[in-house]
This record gives sequence, C-alpha cells and structure tokens, in this order.
Amino acid sequence: MELINRTIELVKEKLEGTESGHDWFHIERVWKLSLKIQEKEGGDKLIIELAALLHDIADPKFHNGDETIASRIVNEFLTEQKVDSETIEKVIFIIENMSFKNRNEAPQNLPLELKIVQDADRLDAIGAIGIARTFNFGGYKNNLMYHPDIEPKLNQSKEEYKKSNGTTINHFYEKLLLLKDLLNTETAKEIAEHRHQFMLQFLDEFYKEWNVTF
Ligand code: ADP
Ligand code: NI
Repeated sequence: MELINRTIELVKEKLEGTESGHDWFHIERVWKLSLKIQEKEGGDKLIIELAALLHDIADPKFHNGDETIASRIVNEFLTEQKVDSETIEKVIFIIENMSFKNRNEAPQNLPLELKIVQDADRLDAIGAIGIARTFNFGGYKNNLMYHPDIEPKLNQSKEEYKKSNGTTINHFYEKLLLLKDLLNTETAKEIAEHRHQFMLQFLDEFYKEWNVTF
C-alpha cells in the first residue's frame, strides 16, 4: 500500500544514524509483531500499522526533552498524505500514550489498537532481542554489566535503585522481568512466556559463569 510505503520511507529517513535500540530494525520488528497480534486480536489494521511505524519517530530524549515534536511530525506528514483527521487523531493518541511511563493507566480504557502496538513494543524489549538491546544500551552508556556487591531484585526502592549504579543486569529487574505482566492481549502474553523464561535462563547462566559455580 502506497501510504505504508511512504511512511516507511519517512521513518527510515528520520531514524537514520540513531542508536541501534531505536533504529529502523526495531520499528520493523514492532510493525511485524503488531500485525501478527492483530491477526488474532483484531483492531483497525491501518491505525495499528501507522502507529507501529511512527511510534519512535522523535524520542524527546534526543530532542531536548521536547514532548510534542513526534505529534507535530506525524500530524504534518499524515495531513500531507491526505489521511482523514479522525485516523490521524487516533494514531497520535497511541503514540502519545504507549510508553512504559504510562503503565498505571487503566488498560480497559485504552483502544485495542494502542494495546496491540504497546504489546509489540514491549515484546521487543524482552527475550533474546531484549537482552541484546539492553547490553547494547549499557555499552553505549558505558555502564557496568554487573556488580557482584549488588543483589538485584524486583520492585526495588529508590535507594536500592540508586545503589544499583544502573548496571545492565539491574535493568532486567527494574524493567525487563516486569514486562510480561504488563501486557494487554492474550496473544502477546503467550509470545512473552517463552521470552521471559529465556531471560530467566540467561540470568541463571550469567550468575553461574560469573561465580564459576557451573
Ligand atoms: P522504549 O523503546 O521501550 O521506550 P527505552 O528508550 O527506555 O525503551 O530503551 C530502549 C532500549 O534500551 C530497551 O531495550 C531498554 O530495555 C534498554 N534500556 C533502557 N534503559 C536501560 C538501562 N538503564 N540499562 C540498560 N538498558 C536500558
Ligand atoms: Ni519502540
């Protein structure tokens, strides 16, 4: 479809040179995963595809904290492509409301299309790819992989988190291992089960190798 192809072109252009956690290939995986979930769960396919493709078009982290830049780019682009304003509004609503920060919003009030794209984005943060992205991010930030004095655990207090020094292994406990319980759709939960087990197995191996207790 022409609109989707033009959207892909825009995204590739805007994301050129971004770090590999949020590059075009992340978008492509989220797009394909969203379509896979949509096949089972339903929802408006066009809105899902557009939101998946455009969801990381302008991360405020890399735009001086500007929270509105993504919506402006999307609005301008879709208007130019003669997409109707109702569809544009729905796509922008998804992009503005799907991040991990908004996890406390009551899931039943969210549109199905948002739930699906959010699930796809979260699935890409776990499993083998999730592990790879996390170590990639940690390396980029020059963080320690792990520190043996810090016992990582789930549901850390602010103090404990500070003490963790932001090691990459700690990120599993502050985010990655929590994601499977934050998913919205049954289809995504099924996919997450295997990825979650794989991360647990990875951590187990990691500690065994670190401590030479294999
Ligand atoms: P998202 O795209 O889900 O909003 P982020 O921008 O927070 O995620 O992060 C992009 C990638 O980097 C994800 O795979 C995430 O798990 C990872 N990441 C984020 N923060 C950290 C951290 N402190 N240490 C290691 N990896 C991180
Ligand atoms: Ni994303």
